[in-house]
Amino acid sequence: MRHLMSPMDFSVEELDKLLKLANDIEQNPGKYAHACTGKKLATCFYEPSTRTRLSFEAAMLNLGGSVLGFSSADSSSASKGESVSDTIRVISCYADICAMRHPKEGAPLVASQKSTIPVINAGDGGHQHPTQTLTDLLTIYSLKGKLGGLTIGLCGDLKFGRTVHSLIHALIRYPDIRFVLISPEELRVPSYIREDVLNKNQISYKEVERLEDAMADLDILYMTRVQRERFFNEEDYVRMKDFYILDKSKMALAPKEMLVLHPLPRVNEISVEVDEDPRAAYFKQAQYGVYVRMALILTLLEVEVC
Ligand code: NCD
Repeated sequence: MRHLMSPMDFSVEELDKLLKLANDIEQNPGKYAHACTGKKLATCFYEPSTRTRLSFEAAMLNLGGSVLGFSSADSSSASKGESVSDTIRVISCYADICAMRHPKEGAPLVASQKSTIPVINAGDGGHQHPTQTLTDLLTIYSLKGKLGGLTIGLCGDLKFGRTVHSLIHALIRYPDIRFVLISPEELRVPSYIREDVLNKNQISYKEVERLEDAMADLDILYMTRVQRERFFNEEDYVRMKDFYILDKSKMALAPKEMLVLHPLPRVNEISVEVDEDPRAAYFKQAQYGVYVRMALILTLLEVEVC
């Protein structure tokens, strides 16, 4: 039995297979409509979510399966003091697979160690968000036709943004990847990622503060929101929240083929005027999230569709 805690849990070959399966699902949805009949997905969300939870549920429903779960810690027995280990032992009796989001780093990993069903990390604190990364990879692969040979600008809250951490881990395995890390000093990528992931693997990257200085070189611009819920005080958040606002004038500095991605939700960091730009791919990205989660559920449940 396999779980998904980090994008590194899949080899590059396995990822390739998963992305091709997601492409086939997009092209031939009817073929997969009954692939999970009789199977149940539990969504255990101890932290707010719109896209991740609902795209998981849509994915299972599209496969002919059913869904159950809770969408906040308050509505689960966590509010009575139950541990994730006990909760997952019980959920294992009710469902075939579980997607779990938790504010504490490592909580889904702890759950997976007590689980008798596959557990998927749907975001653990400021640590990892592997299924967002699968979504990001599928978006880049589908719209650019490749995952290597790209210059990727990661912009915003690179300190607390778990989507950025997972994406860096995943992308360094492709050839000729260059990162431009665009953040204010206080929200730089954590040093363990710079040292243990980027430097150790001799990945080319530079850190800049001004978005304008980076735009012209990018194939992908990955915007992120400032992660208010992970700040220790509101004042720091208020000072940082509008540090970057991508608007038409900044888009004018970017190459014609550059793509703008964002895991969403957006706050102010992308002006709505950018939505009409053909390079804005963040809503398409949300759609790809359903296909890739369908592919992931099939893979972890070992369901083959001929
Ligand atoms: C992201 C998350 O939860 O980390 N959202 C998502 O799952 N699409 C990004 C964010 O909340 O900023």
